[in-house]
Amino acid sequence: MRRKLAAGNWKMNGTAANLAELEALKSLMPVDAPDVLICPPAPLLFRAHEVAGDTGIQIGAQDCHNHESGAFTGDISATMIADTGATHVIVGHSERREAYEEHDSDIRKKAKAAWAAGLTAVICIGESGDDHEANNTLEIIAGQLAGSLPDATSATNTVIAYEPIWAIGTGKVPTLEQIVQVHDFIRAKIITRFGAEIGDMIPLLYGGSVKPDNAATIFEAENVDGALVGGASLKAADFAPIIEALAAS
Ligand code: 13P
Repeated sequence: MRRKLAAGNWKMNGTAANLAELEALKSLMPVDAPDVLICPPAPLLFRAHEVAGDTGIQIGAQDCHNHESGAFTGDISATMIADTGATHVIVGHSERREAYEEHDSDIRKKAKAAWAAGLTAVICIGESGDDHEANNTLEIIAGQLAGSLPDATSATNTVIAYEPIWAIGTGKVPTLEQIVQVHDFIRAKIITRFGAEIGDMIPLLYGGSVKPDNAATIFEAENVDGALVGGASLKAADFAPIIEALAAS
């Protein structure tokens, strides 16, 4: 059985006061909860880890530098992230690919840096609205998988998140058929590259406008093992029903 993961990406939202939402989430966790991960802004990592305590809620960062230390003003390394108690780091989010011109080769380096620090890399891929409309989705995804995933990718060091850019923060969600098509395609590609033992076990998350009212439908897809949630992860009252839907799937 593949592990299920409900991951929240707070993006650049939240100060210490917002940790009250994490506190609230603790009491809303279902009994048979799947893995739950919250990725707050970097200044909150340490405190978030303390608030999560022994609940099993894991904490992750939203990006890392590919070097362990050095003259990179303003950046944080995977080692520093691990030092806060965090267990995961998102790499290759489309907002970083677009705004910071990060390419597959950068993301591959960051994933390796994450692993070297003992973190699990949540590697994001996804096509633009233009590519979606031009029916280039599978070609784009294949290229990003080939370029962003290091050769040593395993089921314990990596989670893959498929986030169509046009679905992020827009309220637009692909049809279940479209999600099934892309996730089945990703599964087939990683099995071909890494072998069935690894490829079959890597968790695949869907991300892009996941909300309490559409989560259960999205989780019907066999190769959807969870979600990477933006806006709806900021409030415990929104994120908890998504976690419940995943637990019930
Ligand atoms: P939304 O859930 O707000 O669409 O964001 C998705 C996302 O980018 C998570 O990384």
